[in-house]
Amino acid sequence: MALKMRLNKFLAEAGIASRRQADRFIQEGRILVNDLVVKEMGVQIDPQTDQIMVDGHLVVLPGQWEYLILNKPPGFLTTVHDPFGRPTVMNLLPPANTRLYPVGRLDLDTSGLLFFTNDGEMALALTHPRHLVEKTYRVQVSGMPDEQKLQNLASGILLEDGLTAPAKVALEGAENGNAMIKIIIREGRKRQIKRMMSSIGHPVMSLERMAVGPLKLGTLKLGEYRRPTEAELADLMKLKLQVQENAQKKL
Ligand code: URA
Repeated sequence: MALKMRLNKFLAEAGIASRRQADRFIQEGRILVNDLVVKEMGVQIDPQTDQIMVDGHLVVLPGQWEYLILNKPPGFLTTVHDPFGRPTVMNLLPPANTRLYPVGRLDLDTSGLLFFTNDGEMALALTHPRHLVEKTYRVQVSGMPDEQKLQNLASGILLEDGLTAPAKVALEGAENGNAMIKIIIREGRKRQIKRMMSSIGHPVMSLERMAVGPLKLGTLKLGEYRRPTEAELADLMKLKLQVQENAQKKL
């Protein structure tokens, strides 16, 4: 039997706002129930079957949050739907009863860690530039950059959209005269690593993302997915809490 609950209680239990703030959000027309704005007070919803959105983000109760880590193989688009029917990362996920979506983006030919969730606040915590979450990449470039070029990568490269923020850079080895570099950045500009490497004269041959914030690729094989470990989940929740606290301060 369906268990209904008041909309403001649902929003409070989902960690979106206190009940009083939730009432305000409702009055302000920020809440959609099944794609319709609901402005009246006291509306009852069914958390199992109704789709609730706040400012365009799907809201679910904590027990319904889903988090998945995929090792994206090259050749899959990071998008929920491709109008041309090309393979997307969604084809690699298990069938789910909640709508998961990818957090951030990897290029078609990039492999590695891609995180999925239906938790809009968590997605924001990981991607908003203000939160400076570290992304770790292992990249094979053409040729061997010298010390000075590696130093330039670390201190900032002038790209067409501005100077890159400081990065951590380490030469890990070489294969057939082509350097393997580990680089950690806190930004997420389009094709950022490729543009940085091209600009020092050593274009990317292959690129793999090893970690995003507390999430690590570990031993996950290409095309496989897993749920975060308990330790990863605890760190994710801490990150989200920080973001919620910052948002509360601004209310
Ligand atoms: N930087 C890139 O150039 N491509 C990616 O897919 C990710 C980071």
